[in-house]
Amino acid sequence: MFESIRVASKGKASMLIVGQFKGESLNTETKALDADGSLVKASKRADANGALGSIVEVHGSNGYERALIVGLGSRDGFDAGSLRKVAGKTGRAIAKVKAKSANFQICMALKKLKKSDAVDAFTAGAMIGEGLGMLSWSFDSLRGSATNLPTQTKLAVHSCCSAFNDGVERGLGFAEGTNIARTLSQTPPNIATPMWIAGEAKKMARKSSNLKCTVFSGKKLEEERLAGHINVGKASENKPCMIRLEYTPARGKSKKPIVLVGKTISYDSGGLSIKVGGGMVGMKRDKDGGCGVFGAMHIIANVIKPNRPVVALLVSAENSISDEAYRPDDVLTFRNGVTVEITNTDAEGRLVLADGLCWACEKENPEYIVDMATLTGGVVVALGSVFGGMWCDDDDLRAKIEAAGESTGELVWRMPHHEKYNAMMKSPIADILNSAPIREAHPIQGAAFLTYFVEEGVKWAHLDIAGTHALKKDNEFMCAGPSGFGARLLADLVERS
Ligand code: BES
Ligand code: ZN
Ligand code: ZN
Repeated sequence: MFESIRVASKGKASMLIVGQFKGESLNTETKALDADGSLVKASKRADANGALGSIVEVHGSNGYERALIVGLGSRDGFDAGSLRKVAGKTGRAIAKVKAKSANFQICMALKKLKKSDAVDAFTAGAMIGEGLGMLSWSFDSLRGSATNLPTQTKLAVHSCCSAFNDGVERGLGFAEGTNIARTLSQTPPNIATPMWIAGEAKKMARKSSNLKCTVFSGKKLEEERLAGHINVGKASENKPCMIRLEYTPARGKSKKPIVLVGKTISYDSGGLSIKVGGGMVGMKRDKDGGCGVFGAMHIIANVIKPNRPVVALLVSAENSISDEAYRPDDVLTFRNGVTVEITNTDAEGRLVLADGLCWACEKENPEYIVDMATLTGGVVVALGSVFGGMWCDDDDLRAKIEAAGESTGELVWRMPHHEKYNAMMKSPIADILNSAPIREAHPIQGAAFLTYFVEEGVKWAHLDIAGTHALKKDNEFMCAGPSGFGARLLADLVERS
């Protein structure tokens, strides 16, 4: 959509953007910008109804080439998050006419909101920045000679105040992390192998002095007894690795780190328990837990810069097929001593996650752990693409994740742990099996499996994002494809911890 977006504090924009609530006329503060009366006149047109995301275009208004009156929806219960949608619709209208600069004066319309619905200029700017930034994502690096790419324009964002501008910068930073996650997700599996993803993590760490990247592969995986990686990754030429990214704060170095673990299966063919029918297509996105964590680390290191350490573990392998593949009937021993009978090689994500969770508990002394994974198709059946599934029995951590979900719009819904689900995972020959013969409640079984790798007393949340990691069709500010789910959620969570 846009080649780049920057905040401009000088000069005059070619386009003016003002807001109008549903069923209302322009407010006094907005009218103050309307010396020539063209906005008021246009705001009385039948199509100027203030419906959320509606756009009324006014040519030659108040010295601007164009003005847009954008609908903010209902005043009562106004939610800052709806400004992302406003940004998406407005951004499309700006791009359509190839305007290079726009002056966002929507804060004017937000002046006299009810106390409970009030939105400050910084937050408004952040939502607009996020919406515009996420709208701008595209993935064209693999288009070849048979495609004509549309020309993109650079956009300068002007606004009413420095607080709004600062908000836009923050929002653009959150969008950048999300877009990095989307680009990784979109990269095909013949390029985005585990070691290639490790290379991208190293590149990111080189650019930020507060980030360090270590990659565990080959013999190191053996030495560290990372049985999940070794076995899931065995069949592929593209070797497995665990990618450890560490954020070190300027202050607060000695605090316990927050540990984020992301399932990063570069391709999930199912292995010997091969996926059938159409089940395999799209499984390049089985790395999206890790992509979200990667994007979150970008936001953490560049925007939030919290006063505490954060460690990310991207547990990465390709689940492929060869004569060296791990098989149903194999028994694996994990680094915490738990033995797992493999009953289905397509339940591979939990095996690499098990390594990450054991490692986090044993080596990182975590404040808390959050893992994020495209773990089960069952969570898509249960929650669709609206909520991610969340398993977390710690009230405080859960409240923080829920609050982060509300503020980023990346929603999560609590699912249960119960010893009866744990009992379903018992194996007749090992401690547990990786996939129970009874298929019922299998997202919950997946979470139950993971509990065997989290030490007693460690605060932990598991997020199953198989339903939310990609969009089937365009929404107001994102196109169909990867959503980058979790990058903003986890960054926001770290900020409020
Ligand atoms: N990667 C899949 C889960 C998935 C499904 C992600 C749809 C995204 C969209 C996972 O590894 C898997 O295959 N899960 C199995 C688990 C079963 C074998 C216990 C599933 O969901 O059927
Ligand atoms: Zn699988
Ligand atoms: Zn998988």
